Amino acid sequence: MPTVVLAYSGGLDTSVAIRWIKEQYNLDVITVTIDVGNARDLPAIAARAKSIGAVKALIVDGRTDFVRYFVWPALQAGAIYEGEYPLATALARPLIARLLVEVARAEGAIAVAHGCTGKGNDQVRFDVSINTLAPDLKIIAPVREWSMTRDHEIAYATEHHIPIQVTNASPYSVDQNLWGRSVECGILEDPWAEPPEEVYAWTSNPDLSKHNNGSQPQEPSYIEITFQQGIPVGLNGEEMDGVALIETLNKLAGSYGIGRIDHIENRLVGIKSREVYEAPSAVVLHNAHRSLESMTLSRDQARFKEVVAAEYSRLIYDGQWYSALHQDLAAYVRSTQRFVSGVVRMKLTHGHCIVVGRKSEHSLYNHSLATYDSGDQFDHNAALGFIKLWGLPLTTQAQVQLLPELGRGQFAERACGVGGRNSGEGDHKGPHPTPHRSRPYKDTKVAKG
Ligand code: ARG
Repeated sequence: MPTVVLAYSGGLDTSVAIRWIKEQYNLDVITVTIDVGNARDLPAIAARAKSIGAVKALIVDGRTDFVRYFVWPALQAGAIYEGEYPLATALARPLIARLLVEVARAEGAIAVAHGCTGKGNDQVRFDVSINTLAPDLKIIAPVREWSMTRDHEIAYATEHHIPIQVTNASPYSVDQNLWGRSVECGILEDPWAEPPEEVYAWTSNPDLSKHNNGSQPQEPSYIEITFQQGIPVGLNGEEMDGVALIETLNKLAGSYGIGRIDHIENRLVGIKSREVYEAPSAVVLHNAHRSLESMTLSRDQARFKEVVAAEYSRLIYDGQWYSALHQDLAAYVRSTQRFVSGVVRMKLTHGHCIVVGRKSEHSLYNHSLATYDSGDQFDHNAALGFIKLWGLPLTTQAQVQLLPELGRGQFAERACGVGGRNSGEGDHKGPHPTPHRSRPYKDTKVAKG
């Protein structure tokens, strides 16, 4: 019988899907359960798949690949969707898609299947990735195709003797991997409602983490993260592989309540949704990495990298991992990371991680140029010439075009964005129609820096 390879999580949807696909499509089902650091009893999940009728139940440890090929490049890129979401779920999808395709090829399957709904981003990420890597494979998405409610699914499972654990009637939908945990649904669908404590599993309440067992104040922790070319390679002076480092930081920073994110995000399918994330490692590492870059990248590199980061996070979110655009942006990011090596020192306190020190042998920070104390090597006289040329276009334009307006009281207001010919300033009846008309900077003090 022809075969389909199903990405199997062990939950209700994909358990029902094993049986449903067999019935609807008359295909043998091979399940593959991919470990991206979501801490489950994998042998038990595989056994469940077999008991439901899978002809084969495979387990793949994808953690090392996930960190190496997905998480670290995203960290190097500074990829944080809409400035909030470190993209844990979104980053795992292209890896899972690739592994599904690999298993399908190895097993000679004609189709692959996943348990995504027809409303989220994940179906897009899976389908676009699979279509790109293996356009000949058919994609089956049972949850998108059947019109069963949760109760229908439970009834279907009971009827077909599908062993499921519906003991916890959690109203939340949760997805998790090494890089973070995503929670939606239930009360979270009310954007005004504060997320109840029960939605969090990786982070302690930062208000309470001050207290060990409610008694002693928990002291801040200091940690040192070593980076090599933008990749974290050590913690507190000890070399550590990526998976272990992320796990360790998730636990430590999570104990301080670091990494809680409450985000109203723009889904690719056109809706706004509210998701709560827990991403202690991601938050700590993005902060540390950014700080090291501030020391090792030029101003122009850093500025352009922000443009790239926004585009990079958008393409990850939008399911375009296997695109030429990604290859191009990744090449820029890789190039920027050549000198992003060094150590960042961070302080972890209740709900916050703060960079308190950084050092790098490639540092562009030059003390003798920066200092205000003796030993200052900065050429103060050169500043005069620099200012003259830097401001030359402004003074030129002001003389020709803008200063003549000053007589009409318009330059200052327009420059401040409060006036101008079309601003209705003539209607102004207040006591100060033309603020700063003469000597506008009279009271301004010159500050250092
Ligand atoms: N909104 C996130 C994304 O699109 C997470 C999606 C999965 N969330 C979940 N709670 N199952 O990447």
